[in-house]
Amino acid sequence: MQSQLTKILQEAKEQLIKASSMPEIEEIRVKMLGKKSQLTEILRSMGTLAPEERKELGQSANHVRAEIEKMLEEKFSGMKGTLREAKFKLERVDVTEPGVQEALGAKHPITITINEISKVFMSMGYSVAEGPEIETVFNNFDALNAPANHPSRDYSDTFYVTESTLLRTHTSPVQARTLLSEEPPIKIISPGRCFRRDTPDATHSPMFHQVEGILVDEGVTMADLKGTLDYFAKQIFAPNVKTKFRPHYFPFTEPSAEMDVSCFKCGGTGCRVCKGSGWIEILGCGMVHPNVLQVGDIDVEKYTGFAFGMGVERIAMLKYGVDDIRLFYENDMRFINQFK
Ligand code: PHE
Repeated sequence: MQSQLTKILQEAKEQLIKASSMPEIEEIRVKMLGKKSQLTEILRSMGTLAPEERKELGQSANHVRAEIEKMLEEKFSGMKGTLREAKFKLERVDVTEPGVQEALGAKHPITITINEISKVFMSMGYSVAEGPEIETVFNNFDALNAPANHPSRDYSDTFYVTESTLLRTHTSPVQARTLLSEEPPIKIISPGRCFRRDTPDATHSPMFHQVEGILVDEGVTMADLKGTLDYFAKQIFAPNVKTKFRPHYFPFTEPSAEMDVSCFKCGGTGCRVCKGSGWIEILGCGMVHPNVLQVGDIDVEKYTGFAFGMGVERIAMLKYGVDDIRLFYENDMRFINQFK
């Protein structure tokens, strides 16, 4: 029995040296000290021995048991240390490692252009107003002096929501709203989305953006309009561009004009951008029609005003050399990322 005990201790030692995981150690513990282990059996059989033998063997067996328990404990704490170290290694943070660059979003070219236009007018003291994209027929047409038979009212040109509401076809209804809600001096611009029943092609989109402007005060003349828009063109395109005002017709302004700028690409000699003419059409404008002022309850004997409206896509296309309006809405990252 004594030699059996020595063997047990030896076996425990060998097995524990080889063990390399917590479950293995536990297995060894069960095998060597468990209820069905050889050692337990020996301890159980003590009662059958003669008293002397029992004393000696009992001591030996208990000693073996204590030894194995000690070895298990040592192996166990050793393993715990190893595991902790391995965990530390795994979770180690290399503070010198360069970070992962997050992909940053960027402003859309239309937003950039609206911001640039707004900045120029804000520097002249204009505030920014907004109007809804679903408008009343009244604000979009009637209040703006549009004749009842004006072709732009047609179902084929305009998206009607109901009989009396529509997707605004221009930002000019904000003129009507502002005249109704404010007293002169009035000096606002209003950027926003507009909608027209156009088939998309390189220069048309059923949804596009405009920036509207209106100024009403005492003694405002066409010269103020020209000076303001000439300054705007020089700021937004180039300091040396020239402007030209061609007579035009809008129901809500009288007189009305379209403003052209001298081609900032070729300087006026003629190129692809200006289609050989040396001039590029930029916006519509005019002196606010007295009928429009009257809808807003403005004293037309005392006040006059001017208004203008420009297409944002058109200006962005000219500024950035974009030749297809649809590129603005397709969200192709290769296009969008060029404006970062
Ligand atoms: N609303 C006109 C358009 O969409 C532009 C414009 C605005 C003209 C203000 C004159 C005054 O074409």
